[in-house]
Order: sequence, then structure tokens, then C-alpha cells
Amino acid sequence: MYICNCNGIREREVRIAIEQGATRPREIFAKSQCAPQCAKCVCDMRRMIQDSQEALRFAAQ
Ligand code: FES
Repeated sequence: MYICNCNGIREREVRIAIEQGATRPREIFAKSQCAPQCAKCVCDMRRMIQDSQEALRFAAQ
């Protein structure tokens, strides 16, 4: 499934970028060597980052 249709960034690529330390959508774009265009995907990226951070916090408790 594509998260970013403009740049062809898949959900799997976003997850990998987050696992590698991306904490902002701009870092995900940078890892994919592209830039936001319409920015419709930024909310989805932020949600994925937040979900990942919450899962880590929950796991640490
Ligand atoms: S969908 Fe990602 S920049 Fe347009």
C-alpha cells in the first residue's frame, strides 16, 4: 500500500524509516530521497510515527 502517492513511498518504506530513527515526515522524505509535493500523506506519516512511539513507550513500561 502506498502512503505517498506523489513519490511512490510505500507503507513498508515508511516503517523502515521510522525504525531507523525518523521522527518527522521530512526525515522520511529525505530517506526516500524526495520531497513532499501535495503533502496529503504527511498526516498518515505523523500517525505512523506517533503509533510507533506509543508502542515503544508501552513496551518500556
Ligand atoms: S501524497 Fe505524499 S506528497 Fe502527495
